Amino acid sequence: METCLNFPKNFVWGAATSAYQVEGAWNADGKGPSNWDDYCHNHIPAGSTGDIPGQVYTPGNVQANQTGDFAADQYHRFVEDVGLMKGLNLQAYRFSIAWSRVIPNGIYDGPSSVNQKGLDYYSRLVDALLAAGITPYPTLFHWDVPLAIWHKGAWHNREIVKWFEDYTRVVVDRLSDRVKHWMTINEPQIFLGPSEHEGLQTSNARASHAQRLLAAHHTLLAHGRSVATIREHAKLPPTIGWAPIGRVKVPASDKPQDLDAARKATLGIYKKDFWTNTWFADPIVFGHYPEDGLRLYHDDISRNPHLRAALSSADDLRTISQKIDFYGINVYDAERFRMNDKGEPEKVPFPDGHARTAIGWFVEPEALYWGPKFLFERYKVPMMITENGMSSHDWVDLDGKVRDFARLDYTRRYLLALGRAIKDGVDMRGYFHWSLLDNFEWQCGYRERFGLIHVDYATQKRTIKESAKWYAKVISSNGEALSNGLG
Ligand code: BGC
Repeated sequence: METCLNFPKNFVWGAATSAYQVEGAWNADGKGPSNWDDYCHNHIPAGSTGDIPGQVYTPGNVQANQTGDFAADQYHRFVEDVGLMKGLNLQAYRFSIAWSRVIPNGIYDGPSSVNQKGLDYYSRLVDALLAAGITPYPTLFHWDVPLAIWHKGAWHNREIVKWFEDYTRVVVDRLSDRVKHWMTINEPQIFLGPSEHEGLQTSNARASHAQRLLAAHHTLLAHGRSVATIREHAKLPPTIGWAPIGRVKVPASDKPQDLDAARKATLGIYKKDFWTNTWFADPIVFGHYPEDGLRLYHDDISRNPHLRAALSSADDLRTISQKIDFYGINVYDAERFRMNDKGEPEKVPFPDGHARTAIGWFVEPEALYWGPKFLFERYKVPMMITENGMSSHDWVDLDGKVRDFARLDYTRRYLLALGRAIKDGVDMRGYFHWSLLDNFEWQCGYRERFGLIHVDYATQKRTIKESAKWYAKVISSNGEALSNGLG
């Protein structure tokens, strides 16, 4: 049996959520509406009848017409939730701040534009966490854009760089006497890529590739200005990262050429769909866009002088490439790749019946070995797993337990792979399980349960799942319990 003494002494064990997915209280205490409030309230197709088993969401439709209005009600229950976190030995909590709770109209326009009650909420949450010995890791943006900014084009409008900077400063002024760890933006690839493309969470569903590239550039600029603002204003010395999705390809065999194929596919840009690591990370870490991406998008860029100027602006690239202290990655699954006869990376489909989570994603624990390894080799920045986990359709058994052994096994396999990556030299600083609680899973509504803690949405009763009890042991043994079977 593999032993797991690989996790460094200061390794951070945590769990993650995001504001819209858990807070509820969508219009409480002066909070303004966000794109997600609007999307859930106003984009319900006529004739939709509710929760049809096996129904696949269609663009513009949240599963069963659900909303995040109440979600897991963490806004009102954070004291209870922090108590549960403490009971699970969690050392850190990654949560996000709802921009529209802090600045209801999104745009800072003097002190009266700030909603003190919204800031108070995060301040109380931070105090509760610190009192419980749990380190707060706030993310400034996890997909909920203030609606007023949404109507101005959101990431398509360059002014968002300034608006995000101002919002960052307001939050940092209030929390940085206690918060040391910050993340700017969650998964730009998703909110600018597939989600826009499929018209799911979009301010411009028909955007051309050039327009999308410009929106991505604005997002990177906003990230950079946010990093600089945190450094300028933070009272405690800050540790700053971001949380992109890690799109991982793993080798289909242990042949060196397949390893090469997986590395190339993980770090290459082949399709104009934003499922890419490097288009976003290269400008942040190296200060320039990757050559293969520039080649792929050549025509889109050359036909658009404004975009061309932005992508090559030395000032912009300097702003984007602020030093980050850690590179977060959200990893759930991976694809297998081999090198074909033409010397090109080629996807090898999983065989029929390969393990999948309830949402349909393939289980591939090697993702947490190769993903960190490939990205660390390229970027050489300390890393954290900022999300990893799985959905299952858990329920509370007659005896009151939630026996989610698939989640336990999934997490164990992924963490063992992560331990090997650390042993092989990856500077990995922490792991946040997604998610602390069952919550609003975007277009899938409440159908998909990702939590370590079960939530009965009718009563908001929390039940600690078996996986969470096991994870608590993993934490207290700093990973050693991974070697001990299923619990
Ligand atoms: C997102 C989370 C989401 C999770 C599971 C990530 O893409 O950051 O908000 O709930 O995956 O889909």
